[in-house]
Amino acid sequence: VLKVTEFISANDLAALMDVSVNQVISTCMSLGMFVSINQRLDAEAITIIADEFGYDVEFTKSIEDEMVEEAEDTEEELEERAPIVTIMGHVDHGKTSLLDYIRMSKVTAAEAGGITQHIGAYDVMTKTGHKIAFLDTPGHEAFTAMRARGAKITDVAIIVIAADDSIMPQTKEAINHAQVAGVPMIFAINKVDKPNARPEKIKEELANMNLLVEDWGGKYQSQEISAKTGQGVDELLEKVLLESEILELKANPDKNAVGTVIEASLDKGRGYVATIMVQAGTLKIGDIMLAGQHYGRVKAMFDHKGKKLKEAGPSTPVQVLGLSGAPQAGDTIKVYDTEREAREIANSREQIQREQSLRTKKHITLDEIGRRL
Ligand code: GTP
Ligand code: MG
Repeated sequence: VLKVTEFISANDLAALMDVSVNQVISTCMSLGMFVSINQRLDAEAITIIADEFGYDVEFTKSIEDEMVEEAEDTEEELEERAPIVTIMGHVDHGKTSLLDYIRMSKVTAAEAGGITQHIGAYDVMTKTGHKIAFLDTPGHEAFTAMRARGAKITDVAIIVIAADDSIMPQTKEAINHAQVAGVPMIFAINKVDKPNARPEKIKEELANMNLLVEDWGGKYQSQEISAKTGQGVDELLEKVLLESEILELKANPDKNAVGTVIEASLDKGRGYVATIMVQAGTLKIGDIMLAGQHYGRVKAMFDHKGKKLKEAGPSTPVQVLGLSGAPQAGDTIKVYDTEREAREIANSREQIQREQSLRTKKHITLDEIGRRL
C-alpha cells in the first residue's frame, strides 16, 4: 500500500514507488496518458499508475486540506445569525421590484432593459428590527449557473411568481434548485394589484406540481404580494423570519472569516472588487484573504450602499478590495494568519488548474490528429 497525497508530481510518485521517473512516464504513455516530470497527478491518474507498478494507494491529507480544515465551533462560541434569503423566479415576475420595495431603492429602474444580469447582495433591517441578507438572482434563462449558486449559499428561498402569468420554465427551475439544495421555499405570489391577477390559479398550478401551499392544506408558506404597492410584503418578511427561526441559524463570529464569492470584477479605479457573503467569522480590514486562486490583504470593504465597513460578520454581504485577481463566483474564501500560507495555496491551485487545462488541450489535439490519420 502506497500512502500519497493527491496532486503529487510524477517525479515524487516515482520516488515513492522506488522506480525511475522515466519508467512512470513510459508506463503512462502506454496507457495513453502524457505526463511530464513535474506534472501533478490527480487521484485517478495516481491510482492507475500505482496499480501498474503493483501498488494499492491510500490517500492522505494534503497540506491544503490541513490548512483548510475547520476547527469545530463549540456551542458557546455559536451565536444567532441573520438568514440569507435568495429571491428566485421567472424573468420579469418582479424579484428586483420586491427587493426595491423592501430596501426602498430603485435598482429596477437602473437595469439595462429591466433585466437583472448578475446577483445582487443586500442586507436589510426589517421594520421589526431583524436583519436579513438578500440575494437577488436573474430570472433570464441564460443565468442558470447563477441561480444554482444563489440556491447553494442560501438558508431560505423566496420563489416569486407573477399572478397575472403562470408557473413558467424558470419558476420550475428555481423550485428545482431550491429542492436540490435542500432549502425551504416560500412562494411570493406577486402583482396581485393587477386586475388580471389570478393568485388562486397559481396555487392550483403549484398543487399540480405536488407543492401544496398552507391555505390549501399543505406545508408550503405562500403570500400574495404586490411589489408595486407593498401589499403583503411585511407579512412575507414575517414568514421568512418564521421559516429561518425554525432553522436555528448560528455561526461563530469570533474567528477568521469564511464565506463565498458572489461575483468579482476588475474596476478601473479600484482594482479587483469581489462581492463576498461572509458566512462565519468576521472579515476585517488587513486580513489576508484567499479566494479561489487569488489572495491579498483586505484594503477596504463596503456595504451595498457604498458605505465603508471596518469589519463584516456572519450573513453580511460585502464588497472587498485588495485581491490579486478576480476569483470565480462560487469560490470559497478563507482568511490566513500569514501571507505565505495564502500564497502557497493560491499558487498550487493555479498550477493544478493550468496543468489540467493543458492536459485537456493536449488530448483534443491528439484526438484530432487521430481522426485525420
Ligand atoms: P429579472 O431580474 O429580469 O428576472 O426580472 P425581475 O423578476 O427582477 O422583474 P422586475 O422586478 O424587473 O419587474 C419586471 C416588471 O414588472 C417591471 O416593469 C415592474 O415594474 C413590474 N412589476 C414588478 N412587480 C410588480 C407588481 O407587484 N405589480 C405591478 N403592477 N407590476 C410589477
Ligand atoms: Mg431582477
